[in-house]
Parts: sequence; C-alpha cells; structure tokens
Amino acid sequence: MGENEALDRTRRDYDEVAELYDDMVRQGDQVIDALSAGMINAFADLVRAGGSVGAVVDAGCGPGQWTDHLDRAGIRAYGIDLSPAMVAIARRYRPDLRYEVGSMLHLDAGDESIAGILAHFSLIHTPPDLLPRVLTEFARVVEPGGPLLIGVQITDTADANGWVPYDHRASPAYLWTLDGLADRLREHDFAELGRLRIVAPAPGKPPAGYLLARHDARSNE
Ligand SMILES: C[S@@+](CC[C@H](N)C(=O)[O-])C[C@H]1O[C@@H](n2cnc3c(N)ncnc32)[C@H](O)[C@@H]1O
Repeated sequence: MGENEALDRTRRDYDEVAELYDDMVRQGDQVIDALSAGMINAFADLVRAGGSVGAVVDAGCGPGQWTDHLDRAGIRAYGIDLSPAMVAIARRYRPDLRYEVGSMLHLDAGDESIAGILAHFSLIHTPPDLLPRVLTEFARVVEPGGPLLIGVQITDTADANGWVPYDHRASPAYLWTLDGLADRLREHDFAELGRLRIVAPAPGKPPAGYLLARHDARSNE
C-alpha cells in the first residue's frame, strides 16, 4: 500500500470510530492500564533524567489520554494524530495542551529537537514497507540519548520478516514480533533498553508488547 493510500485509510477509519474508541479508552482495564502506565512512567523518568528543554511527542495520540498522563507527570508533551476527530476529542479533554493533526511520517519538528517519542499502539497501522520511513523520521527529530517507547500488539509466530497481517477492528494493521521490531529499531540507531510482554489484554486478543529504546547517536560516528 502506498503512503497516501495507507494514511488516508487510517485517517478515515479512525475518524469513524473516534468516539467509540474514546469510550473504550475511558472504560479502561485495570491490569492493562497499570502495566502501560508502568512503561510510560519509566519512559517519563528517562525523559526527566535527560534534562532536555525539548518536548515529548505522543505520536498517534488518539484521544490524548497518554499526552495528558505525561503532562500530569510533569513532562512537557504534545500529541499528533492523523485523525481530526481524534484530535478534536483530545482537545476537548485538555484544551490547554497542544494536539495537532499530523503524520508520524512527517513530524513538524526540527532535527534533534524532541526529548522523546511515545508511539502507543499507533505504529500497528503502518504498512511494514513504510516503517523504515517512520523510524528514520523518529531518529531525525529525537535528541541523542532521547527515549522512544513503542507499544504494539504482538505475535510470537511471524516469518523471517517479523510481522503478520492483523485483522484489527478499526483499520488494517500488522502484528510484529518484539524481536523483529527491536531489529528494525536497531537499524535506525535506537538501542533497546527493555521490553514488556502483556500476556492477554482480553479474551481472543493478541498479546501486546512494549519496547523501550534510546536513540544512540554514537552509532552514527
Ligand atoms: C489504536 S489507536 C492508539 C491511540 C492512542 N495512542 C492510544 O494508546 O489509545 C491508533 C492511533 O494512531 C493514529 N495513527 C496511525 N497511523 C498514524 C500516522 N502515520 N501518523 C499519525 N497518527 C497515526 C490513528 O489515527 C489512531 O488515532
């Protein structure tokens, strides 16, 4: 799928389900939310320790709940999302925060100007052939040493490419193995720091996983 076609499809699909998606998020799940918050708080700790003056990008922020969480944790954060309906919801909850319609493939940020990137279940819709372009963009904007946290639904049984198609309810998506994704990150100078596997988010759902990485600019030298 070409870039425009893929992005248009994702935007259209999430515009349609935005309110339903937000209801689902607000309803939450105690175990998943606790594990997610654990990883996002670890990410926030690394941002804080980095002492950057830059902001964090919540890339594919959806209704903005994690941008809000980061802000409440004292991290300067803003959200971008392809879907105008998602961005409208995020702004409704937190009109004081910055939420913009935008694409992870073309972030509106200068080189090495971003303190860290959160991509929370937003890379799942990126066709695997476009993933290198997203990771190139992440590597361009994030400061050396800045953390990247990725959350995705995962598979344990992909072929050598590390992914399989995923019959996602909202929009076409892809399941990655955590090893496959970690390999892709390494190719873009993101060194893995740690990972989490969430066994069963809900009956019949695939497991979910997190990769926490750091932009390792030294490998460019
Ligand atoms: C499953 S939702 C996750 C939303 C939120 N991060 C969360 O954790 O609930 C996926 C979101 O990623 C957004 N998205 C997917 N591909 C994107 C891209 N290339 N650029 C920006 N947003 C994207 C979608 O519009 C959607 O809002």
